[in-house]
Amino acid sequence: MNVKDDHSIGVGPNTQLIRAGYSPFDYHGFINPPTVRASTVLFPDAHTMETHGQKYTYGTRGTPTTDALCEAMNELEGAAGTIILPSGLAAVTVTFLAYLSAGDHALIVDSVYGNVRHFCDTMLTRFGVEVEYYDPSLGAAIETLFKPNTKLVHTEAPGSNTFEMQDIPAIAAVAHRRGAVVTMDNTWATPINFRPLDFGVDVSIQASTKYPAGHADILMGTASANAKHWDQLQQAHGELGICGAADDAYQVLRGLRTMGVRLERHQASALAIAEWLESRNDVARVLHPALPSFPGHHIWKRDFKGASGVFSFVLAVSREQSFRAKAQAFLNGLSLFGLGYSWGGFQSLALQVDLGERRILRAPGDGPVIRLQIGLEDVADLKSDLARAFDAARGWF
Ligand SMILES: Cc1ncc(COP(=O)(O)O)c(C=O)c1O
Repeated sequence: MNVKDDHSIGVGPNTQLIRAGYSPFDYHGFINPPTVRASTVLFPDAHTMETHGQKYTYGTRGTPTTDALCEAMNELEGAAGTIILPSGLAAVTVTFLAYLSAGDHALIVDSVYGNVRHFCDTMLTRFGVEVEYYDPSLGAAIETLFKPNTKLVHTEAPGSNTFEMQDIPAIAAVAHRRGAVVTMDNTWATPINFRPLDFGVDVSIQASTKYPAGHADILMGTASANAKHWDQLQQAHGELGICGAADDAYQVLRGLRTMGVRLERHQASALAIAEWLESRNDVARVLHPALPSFPGHHIWKRDFKGASGVFSFVLAVSREQSFRAKAQAFLNGLSLFGLGYSWGGFQSLALQVDLGERRILRAPGDGPVIRLQIGLEDVADLKSDLARAFDAARGWF
């Protein structure tokens, strides 16, 4: 009996994370897989070489290490196949290139991760794809935006920086009726808290840079497709040659083993801080899908199993001219929170969100938006740090 199959049926998410993708007895019982670095793979004879008659043929097409991560993601996402990319951004762009051609129309959610918007507005547009942004609050009504050449609908829920939820099943039903592929950036939830393919998404994308890697030292992305869309994704990956390195894949697989417990802590600490922020006069609003006050909360509650540790709040400011100065005074008043991009690592981070590129959604008028990544520190210390920063910003109106 296959040891891996025997243990992976019907188990809980943390048990699944411990075992996914690799069976120690496939490699002498070592509990972690070997890190196989490769370009060249040797063939035993000319016939095997000519027919590509063995599992591994060249480093860009995968190694036992990258395969272990792909297999783990297939299990977690419920996918037919997964490709590995050298960043989360590349996981989105390569997926778009797999399904879009010149003359196609693509619907992209307006709350999309900013660098994906940049790709859409530059290279994708230059290659002749018509890009249209849509309001994340559209569910089935997204149909009004469809054109005969609409080939792809990209979703991201919660949205970047402002955390709007989307009615994924309603959007997927329309898109499939109209013959379009549905892609989703599921980095925030991870498949532990939301499994996009179970809700009608065709390709689930994750920046493994965030929670899977978990230590702010690896860049990697995955795109996992259902059976209908797997071949095309795999083909594009091979054509582009944008593959992930074995050392990084090893680290991401290592991170996955502890992702469940880390996520529980990120979720609990972030919710405790979000609720505390909601009670403060310095805060106009808290943008966190797990708070009942948040407009998309009902969708989060209906579809998601949990939350992660990134959310935003609107700093209360009475004069629009003071937005930037007050936000900067607040950020400069922090010492435990680092000022830096990305999230999903062990340290708490903060930044002021720039919403200037949005086409449909308006930036809040009641104050600057501050995004927090809540790390693994003690909540009491993080609250003290935030309280000191509010004090430092108090001089600005
Ligand atoms: C939602 C989301 N998707 C994708 C990415 C891109 O990931 P990477 O930094 O690995 O390119 C990010 C990065 O912040 C992100 O926030």
